Amino acid sequence: MKKATFLPVIAIIAIASLMLSACSKKAASNPAPTMGTTLYDTLGGTTLVADPTHQGAMIEKGRLAIRNVIDSTIFVIAADSRINGHFTVLLSEVTKGDLSGFTDLSENLTTFVSGATGAKDYIYIGLSMHDAHDPATNPRMNGKATNADFDAFVSDLVAGANKNKVPSAIITSLGKIVESLRTTVVQM
Ligand code: HEM
Repeated sequence: MKKATFLPVIAIIAIASLMLSACSKKAASNPAPTMGTTLYDTLGGTTLVADPTHQGAMIEKGRLAIRNVIDSTIFVIAADSRINGHFTVLLSEVTKGDLSGFTDLSENLTTFVSGATGAKDYIYIGLSMHDAHDPATNPRMNGKATNADFDAFVSDLVAGANKNKVPSAIITSLGKIVESLRTTVVQM
């Protein structure tokens, strides 16, 4: 698989991250109050705060913390020649000024990780983790991921978390969730 260098894309993504839509998949029903024990709660939970990138909108603090990490991680991946070749569809769109795929990926990844950490108000309705990472079912995935690719993805996620000053104990917990998905994402 061809590796890609997308330095100009980073600047574009920087702009894009400021323009991300606040729309998310909000669950129809309200959850029972949680006892503050999930990772999502530790990240800020359901407390509503002003969304810094969408004037007038509110966002759960836990989701905002996760979205910040995801968006930083997408930046890191875009510049990471070890794995950015898997994201050629996305990056060529962004290069042309089409941010729709970027917005969708940010939303989907944020919602997925929110749910995986215990969020109740957001429901992931994207592709299954298998189908999302099989080029046969997701043409946006350029080639299957190897174990080395997965390791690179994890290190980029840690870098994204560190950029947002996420405490190391939380990064460790996030790492365990991500690691549990390795055999589904790596299909070769
Ligand atoms: C546990 C780790 C991972 C998680 C939780 C994850 C999650 C996701 C999610 C939620 C999507 C969106 C699916 C949809 O559009 O419905 C996605 C898409 C994608 N993932 Fe992953 N992923 C992981 C690891 C990886 C790795 C290791 C690679 C390759 C290095 C990768 C490459 C991609 C690509 C190329 C797409 C399509 C991006 C686009 O929409 O243009 N992912 N992933």
